[in-house]
Amino acid sequence: MPRRALPRPLALALTLSFAVPIAACGAPVKNTPLAEFPTLPTLSDVMDNAATSADPQFKKIGQAAFTDAELASFAATAERVAAAAVKARDFSKGAEFDALAGRLEAKAKALGAAAGSKDAIGAVTALREMKSVCKECHSKFK
Ligand code: HEC
Repeated sequence: MPRRALPRPLALALTLSFAVPIAACGAPVKNTPLAEFPTLPTLSDVMDNAATSADPQFKKIGQAAFTDAELASFAATAERVAAAAVKARDFSKGAEFDALAGRLEAKAKALGAAAGSKDAIGAVTALREMKSVCKECHSKFK
């Protein structure tokens, strides 16, 4: 089969579409190894790690079913967000902040449990509730 070059503007558009970073909400991408979460220096670092893992999952909230790979990635997000919630309390802004961090940890654990039992509805519910805890804390403390 003869190979034809793409028209240049199309080739350029394709190149750009892959070059643009896919981080949602513009949060800096941070993938600190889980074992190093306890040494994260600022709340922003903790949050960037949480967002890097959670934001792509929030886009799946409308989905009715998930592949095993998606469920496995939910389990990984659950672990990272739970660890972020624990670490966030080192930067406490008081009892209400700590309670919200505790709720975030609980939602992360619910996501992990749903992923473990391949419960798509449970996973979507946990993700939706997790997202609302993120928003609630931001509206009060960010
Ligand atoms: C317990 C409260 C709390 C919860 C829960 C919370 N956040 Fe945050 N978040 C904050 C605060 C406070 C800031 C501002 C930090 C600062 O600028 O020092 C922040 C900042 C951020 C930022 C900006 C970080 C930056 O680069 O400066 C992102 C992104 C973010 N949060 C994502 C999330 C996501 C995603 C979730 C849920 C999975 C979440 N947060 C849950 C309190 C919270």
